[in-house]
Amino acid sequence: KILILDFGSQVTQLIARRVREAGVYCEIVPFNASDDILDSFKPAGIILSGGPASVTHADTPRAPARIFGLGIPVLGICYGQQTMVDQLGGNVTTSDHQEFGRAFVDVRENCALFDGVWKTGDREQVWMSHGDHVDRLPEGFSVVATSEGAPFAAIANDEKKFYGVQFHPEVMHTPHGAELLKNFVLNICTCSGDWTMASFRETKIQEIRDQVGSGKVICGLSGGVDSSVVAVLIHEAIGDQLTCVYVDHGLMRAGESDQVVSLFREHYNINLVHRDASDLFLGELAGVTDPEKKRKIIGKLFIDVFEEEARNIGGADFLAQGTLYPDVIESVSFIGGPSVTIKSHHNVGGLPERMNMSLVEPLRELFKDEVRELGRELGLHNDFVSRHPFPGPGLAIRIPGEITREKADILRKADAIYLEEIRNAGLYDTIWQAFAVLLPVKTVGVMGDARTYDHVCALRAVTSTDGMTADYYPFPHDFLGRTATRIINEVRGINRVVYDVTSKPPGTIEWE
Ligand code: XMP
Repeated sequence: KILILDFGSQVTQLIARRVREAGVYCEIVPFNASDDILDSFKPAGIILSGGPASVTHADTPRAPARIFGLGIPVLGICYGQQTMVDQLGGNVTTSDHQEFGRAFVDVRENCALFDGVWKTGDREQVWMSHGDHVDRLPEGFSVVATSEGAPFAAIANDEKKFYGVQFHPEVMHTPHGAELLKNFVLNICTCSGDWTMASFRETKIQEIRDQVGSGKVICGLSGGVDSSVVAVLIHEAIGDQLTCVYVDHGLMRAGESDQVVSLFREHYNINLVHRDASDLFLGELAGVTDPEKKRKIIGKLFIDVFEEEARNIGGADFLAQGTLYPDVIESVSFIGGPSVTIKSHHNVGGLPERMNMSLVEPLRELFKDEVRELGRELGLHNDFVSRHPFPGPGLAIRIPGEITREKADILRKADAIYLEEIRNAGLYDTIWQAFAVLLPVKTVGVMGDARTYDHVCALRAVTSTDGMTADYYPFPHDFLGRTATRIINEVRGINRVVYDVTSKPPGTIEWE
């Protein structure tokens, strides 16, 4: 296992991705990891991430001094290299020659990190992002690669197995970076490289059995990838001790509830309570137009209904949740100050506290695409695991203004046509998320010889890697024209279609 100490770089998570791709399990912890973590995790090697601070200033982060005495390999990346040099007696300076973006390094000497990847005399492309650089090495180190802005672009102490690189091997723009990291974890740290989804599945099933014993587990199933994978995995571990509750708020997409219920109840044989609470949700939402209020109402009702169903099945000892690794990593921030709430996404927050149950969170160590891989490993169909994200409040936040059942029905039809066209065009997997929005605006049109006065439908499609930033998808005009014609012809209540060309930022993905 590898431990990654995070100094706050934007790309720390990519280090973890590359290490896991090499078949080695790893975790990210804040740079000032306690002795407890170091003792209990027992890493075979440590990676120090990059970060925004400067080691030339006092009071900037340092790695725990202990790690250099554990007798295990250490790789410092960017800031990680600089703090390692500083802590081991070398020196770092701030220079006029900064490097941001693509750069080239000249390989001067071989070392274990480069073995089989780079050789002496090579000129290699890397990605740099630094203002400071190392200008004096600690004892025992030698320079193994140089660049114009970083005379110590890569340094090595093969005897102690300490390595430092000024560039970022974890990003795609360093073409051989993944191989260097693989070298580090497999050859230098001598990890076995046999961490796979198949082994993760077996380990987790055992862990769930150990944790739950003969207890009962309840799981809120939304039909999304995370909760579906949680349900199938836990069911595989403990069978009928698991009950899933699907709360149908009446704001799901066309056919979705039937699909979810038949897949989990009939195909997987999972105990599934399907509660149609659409009257309740739509009743409480009547007349509400404020987006945050909509979310709060839905969040609260969800918990109420879920609790009621939990009581109906005679209670449970554990609550299963699809918490993912990015929600768990404590973010290291040097900017300080509370961040502004743009949207209160966590619509089921508060459930565990209120229900006083222990949590079962088998996906806590996984990234989103690893969850998808685990889903495939568990036999979930690819169409299902590669589905676009769908927000908890569902269509409620895609109907700006007042929500009515009639509007939800209109939107469901338009959305289904749009997604069908995207699938037909073979674009579904290229797009991160695509959906229709029903605007609270009516416009005049003419159909046949008659005047119409109906709703405007907006279409949205974005590409993204994590939902944090997004670009609008540049559909060809004939695709947009064809889809608009179909929606207007086939959906009564819509007479105009527009396409949203806003990226995020400044827009958000959803309209509310
Ligand atoms: P935004 O609109 O903030 O969306 O750019 C980023 C991602 O989050 C999803 N989203 C939500 N998910 N409850 C959820 O579970 C919410 O209230 C919510 N609002 C937005 C959105 O679909 C996108 O994937």
